[in-house]
Amino acid sequence: MYIAMNRFRIALGKEKTFIQIWCDRETYLEEVPGFRSFNLLQGPTHEDHTLFASHTVWESKSAFEKWTKSDAFKKAHANASPNKDIYLGPPVFEGFEAVV
Ligand code: HEM
Repeated sequence: MYIAMNRFRIALGKEKTFIQIWCDRETYLEEVPGFRSFNLLQGPTHEDHTLFASHTVWESKSAFEKWTKSDAFKKAHANASPNKDIYLGPPVFEGFEAVV
């Protein structure tokens, strides 16, 4: 099992806008081989931002890597821009291999 997470720092007051982007998105994950589950997680609010993470579970690291090179990935990110004023910076990616 492999878990891929992307952390987003969202400007205060823009949390609902960010959540709405994810609610309105066209998703193609269900058809992707090796995909297991997706959640958008809301974390703590700090002085200047609220932390969110997109969290996906995959059968294997290679299934995840294939998705990142696929048209489904490109289509999912056609409207995703790190330059919008809701982001404090680019997202930070972390991938975890399940070892136990
Ligand atoms: C390693 C790189 C990345 C991973 C693993 C990742 C992961 C994901 C996943 C799992 C989805 C949902 C796709 C679907 O439902 O079909 C998604 C969509 C999205 N991603 Fe990423 N992403 C990456 C890079 C980025 C970057 C650089 C941004 C810049 C802001 C971004 C912003 C978004 C947004 C806003 C959406 C919602 C879709 C929309 O805009 O309609 N992602 N991403």
